[in-house]
Amino acid sequence: HTVHSPLYVNGEQRVIGSCPELTEAESLAAVEAVSKAWDNGRGAWPTMRVEDRIARVEEFARRMLAVRDQVVRLMVWEICKPLNDCRAEFDRTIDYIRATVDALKDLDRASSRFVIESGIYAQIRRAPLGPVLCMGPFNYPLNETFTTLIPALIMGNPVIVKTPRIGKLLYAPLLEAFADCFPAGVVNILFGDRRVAIPALESGRISVLAFIGSSRAADALRRHHPSPHRLRCVLGLDAKNAAIVLPCADMDLTVSEAVTGALSFNGQRCTALKIFYVHASRTEEFLAKFSEAIAALPMGLPWKPGVKITPLPVPGKIDDLRELVDEAVAKGARIANPRGGTFDRTLYYPTLVAGVTAEMRLHTEEQFAPVVPVVSYNDVSEAAEAVIASPFGQQASIFGTDPDAVAALIDPMVNQVCRVNINSQCQRGPDTFPFTGRKDSAEGTLSVSDALRAFSIRTLVAAKGS
Ligand code: G3H
Repeated sequence: HTVHSPLYVNGEQRVIGSCPELTEAESLAAVEAVSKAWDNGRGAWPTMRVEDRIARVEEFARRMLAVRDQVVRLMVWEICKPLNDCRAEFDRTIDYIRATVDALKDLDRASSRFVIESGIYAQIRRAPLGPVLCMGPFNYPLNETFTTLIPALIMGNPVIVKTPRIGKLLYAPLLEAFADCFPAGVVNILFGDRRVAIPALESGRISVLAFIGSSRAADALRRHHPSPHRLRCVLGLDAKNAAIVLPCADMDLTVSEAVTGALSFNGQRCTALKIFYVHASRTEEFLAKFSEAIAALPMGLPWKPGVKITPLPVPGKIDDLRELVDEAVAKGARIANPRGGTFDRTLYYPTLVAGVTAEMRLHTEEQFAPVVPVVSYNDVSEAAEAVIASPFGQQASIFGTDPDAVAALIDPMVNQVCRVNINSQCQRGPDTFPFTGRKDSAEGTLSVSDALRAFSIRTLVAAKGS
């Protein structure tokens, strides 16, 4: 089908490419191919020496670099991310591949050692798991898919990649390199929406589902596997990362972190700050400074120098946001910045919503958009309780200058989320740090080295000594 850019240039949405409409038949063909490449663990790829697999992946990275400009351009036009951020995503992906290779060399050295325990001589080996289905989101269409694809591949698993629904065209310049660098059936690319992955899952021949996207979609997908309890899942899901702003916060620093934390790529990051709990004595100051900072953000098309706010690529998103904000306002919240709640075609103006309470959808649901809910609290326990009550548990930030007040919140937060940021926004990087979440936010851990473990199993060769 024809792919139009979500961007309006001179009043028009341009055709930026076309994409095959894949169906059940291709999904089953991909399963057939990946199963053949696995061949019950006897295939060329799962039995290949680690150094040979590394060489193929390194060659693939070199081939990727040769098409950097094409990949970046397609990403800009299809997901509307600022040009510099698309370049950064590409470069970060190359760095991720290199770091994965280094981590594997260390892991391989560590796991191929012999141990002698109770008279048993044993060699611990890391072995692949079987066919992996990788599905990444539209906001990091290259990087987040590759953070599962590369570790899965390099550990010896053949893969099917279901490309994101938006952000798929950038896979076209990579197809030849995939075909040249890996044996037949080892990498299979499926274009299409989520439904095209279902026949593959229903076949029962997928060993691991690596999915980054919404919690609801992940639940629906895994139910399509005939034995969902046997399907290993590596999941990065919804989040509602909270910032707790204490009465002692340095407000300039807080707002500067809050603006990038909440609004980078229009808030379309799973790690974005998605709700602010601000002490009542500082709420008006926080809103005034945040509103002023929003007014200074450059907005427009993604290649405009220094642009921060760009159009939203998801069809229907503006209508969803209007409903979300209207519902909050109807229940007593107010829009706290001058152009908040307005939009121009697919460009939604960043919107600060003050007076948010637990009865509003905006309080609990992930907005994935440039909408910033602000809750005013009187006692910090109210903010902590709200984080505890959240169905999500990825990260949180604490802003404050009194070390005792900050320290008092760290332990309670560590048991709710998987990363507590002090006087700084939430984020995934550096990619060697563990990246995961509690509750409905994640399953498994995705850092460079954790991902190698997630896509492999430790096996033993053991002999009784004499
Ligand atoms: O969408 C979630 C991404 O993993 C966020 O990564 O914090 O580096 O933007 P980031």
